[in-house]
Amino acid sequence: MRKEHLITATQLSRADIEAVLDRAAEIDADPSAWAEKYETAVLALCFFEPSTRTKMSFDTAMKRLGGTTTDMGGVESSSVKKGESLADTMRVVEGYADAIVLRHPSEGAAQLASEFVDVPVINAGDGAGQHPSQTLLDLYTIREHTGLDDLSIGIMGDLKYGRTVHSLANALTNFDVRQHFISPESLRLPRSVRFDLHESGAQLREHTELDSVLPELDVLYVTRIQRERFPDESEYRAVAGEYRIDAKTLEDGKSDLAVMHPLPRVDEIAPDVDTLEQAQYFEQAHNGIPVRMALLDELLGGVPQ
Ligand code: CP
Repeated sequence: MRKEHLITATQLSRADIEAVLDRAAEIDADPSAWAEKYETAVLALCFFEPSTRTKMSFDTAMKRLGGTTTDMGGVESSSVKKGESLADTMRVVEGYADAIVLRHPSEGAAQLASEFVDVPVINAGDGAGQHPSQTLLDLYTIREHTGLDDLSIGIMGDLKYGRTVHSLANALTNFDVRQHFISPESLRLPRSVRFDLHESGAQLREHTELDSVLPELDVLYVTRIQRERFPDESEYRAVAGEYRIDAKTLEDGKSDLAVMHPLPRVDEIAPDVDTLEQAQYFEQAHNGIPVRMALLDELLGGVPQ
């Protein structure tokens, strides 16, 4: 993966994933050892959609490696507002930075951007497509909590528009994982993702209810219904509020179940879950720092001497 772009989780082999996760664990154990490794490096943050975690954790990750960041700012305050194309923006920004983190509402935008620049492009979410750096921190969290083999995971909520789901499902095919997808019929995994999973030999089952599968799960990955992606607000309202869990729901799950969520949540995990041992979602978000430090190290240059 070194010096290349990170566009989709399908490009990640088990060896690629383990290299980043092992590096993240090293960083986690001794962050100060990495504080001056990339003193001259600049990371460009180009977010055409809102973000809290991805943007701030990439910013912090670069700074904790000794580097700096340059931020395009929101669409409203950049020259995107004047009609500049994505290709032109990327061609300009590559002259300012050693790597580009790109979030964009259009599926395929990161792939397109990567075709115009020579510095690594990291897809930080392209519409309802992919979000592979989120997947790396999800896998790190699962590995720390449960291990990544002989695992049953339930992935619940908006499987149609949820890009974190698509990336995670692809990456999990590298491991011995039984994947259970729980959603209303209207928010099933897209056909293209199901096709890729079948081609990769994934062990998958689809459900419309959590109850029957919950007792066998080691991980429950809950997702937000992606209101901003629905073409019709009435379609959103028809499914909003379904698949909500609370502390009582989890009484039927394993005591060491890991409840995860890429965040932000709206109301799909009740606040009474937050104080339970099973709640891993804030730890999961915090893992974005060592994992993104490790990813930047991988893409910018490799193991420092
Ligand atoms: N998980 C995630 O992508 O969060 P943000 O939208 O806040 O970056």
